[in-house]
Amino acid sequence: MTARDSRTMDFAVGLDVGTTKICALSGIREGGRTKIVSMGSSPSYGLRKGMVVDTGLAADSIKRAVKNAEEAAGITIRSAVVGIAGGHIKGFNGFGAIGVKNRMVREEDVDRLMDSASAVYVPVDRDILHVIPAGFRLDGNNGIKNPVGMPCEILEAMVHIVTGSVTSVQNLVKCCEMAKVRVADIVLEPLASADAVLTAEERERGVALVDIGGGTTDVAVYRDGVLKHTAVLALGGNHITNDIAVGLGIAAEEAERLKKMYGYAVTGVIDERGELDVKGVDERMMKLPVSHLFEIIQPRCEEIMMLVQKEIGIVSKGTAQAQSSPRTSVVLTGGTSLLKGLDAMAGSILGLPVRIGIPVKIINEDLVNSPEYATGVGLVQYGLDQREQLDDKTPQKQLTTSSIFERMKYWAKEYFT
Ligand SMILES: Nc1ncnc2c1ncn2[C@@H]1O[C@H](COP(=O)(O)OP(=O)(O)OP(=O)(O)O)[C@@H](O)[C@H]1O
Ligand SMILES: [Mg+2]
Repeated sequence: MTARDSRTMDFAVGLDVGTTKICALSGIREGGRTKIVSMGSSPSYGLRKGMVVDTGLAADSIKRAVKNAEEAAGITIRSAVVGIAGGHIKGFNGFGAIGVKNRMVREEDVDRLMDSASAVYVPVDRDILHVIPAGFRLDGNNGIKNPVGMPCEILEAMVHIVTGSVTSVQNLVKCCEMAKVRVADIVLEPLASADAVLTAEERERGVALVDIGGGTTDVAVYRDGVLKHTAVLALGGNHITNDIAVGLGIAAEEAERLKKMYGYAVTGVIDERGELDVKGVDERMMKLPVSHLFEIIQPRCEEIMMLVQKEIGIVSKGTAQAQSSPRTSVVLTGGTSLLKGLDAMAGSILGLPVRIGIPVKIINEDLVNSPEYATGVGLVQYGLDQREQLDDKTPQKQLTTSSIFERMKYWAKEYFT
């Protein structure tokens, strides 16, 4: 295959800059579905709890992942949609209203409305990452998803606003630039993961997407088809590994191996009677009961789930609905969702049906058949959607190319120069 340029060719690239791995995925659209063209992965260095702490190390990791994705398909990657997470991310709900003078709502009105909704106080060290419409109101009538083409006098919108630390974003963009990757867009990771693993029906009924990675647990809650809440918790699978390493006095690498192979979060999912062969720091092997691992893992998993419960609970506060609508469910994704029994624990703590989310609607899904790829796939899909929307002139599509994305791009672009 000849070298191709991502600026001129039809593929989009998603770059998941995770705490444990960097994953570069390229994909194209075929018959309305996404086809993954190539994947490149690399262990992640220079990140902590989802944030860049060493730009040089992080840039090298990005470079390696991108190079692997390039070599896998003989392509040249110049730009990518990049995921962002980290404890600095804060989401909150806002509101905007404008007068439309009793005529049909135009796309420019929606842009104006989004601008008015984004005119909120944001501290100087933070900036707006996303302004996402969460339902419109036309002359007092709620529940309108797309007001374009409808007549009204007063147009209002509920929005979900996501802000992040300017320095953290600058660092992320800088690493990508050092790795010779132009940042086409920056997308909040749980939104990308949600895009890859949730169905439209789940979003309508009510669903909490919980992406438990290495350094962070990202939450996105949808109800009535719209985003109600986002949160990034600075706790993930690496903390479980660390607990095992400290608890057993072993190296992190050995702790990671034990966690993946024998770790479990609830009793009854594996045979707990046996003993484990564990390598000590002095390289000597020792025997430990399997249940010992559980005793270390279980409290940390419980802690993560209690924090998730709090986030899901926030959505119900101030609404007439009970704790959650009876049909609300939870979709766990990210690498830590592979921990045996974590879904069962989530079900019993959250009191909601739980499933593990792997990327769906992908033509060659075997390639990304794991919750670890949810964010990367979502970022590719976002890039492909953007491309289509910019080409498409139908009112439905035009709505989503409104100021939300323009603003986001503008924000990211500020740091290119
Ligand atoms: N089979 C498994 N059992 C338990 N944990 C697992 C398993 N496979 C992967 N993990 C854990 O998943 C985590 C990595 O997940 P993922 O690749 O989603 O994280 P990341 O995107 O790099 O990090 P983050 O999103 O937090 O920045 C690691 O802590 C790893 O130990
Ligand atoms: Mg991740």
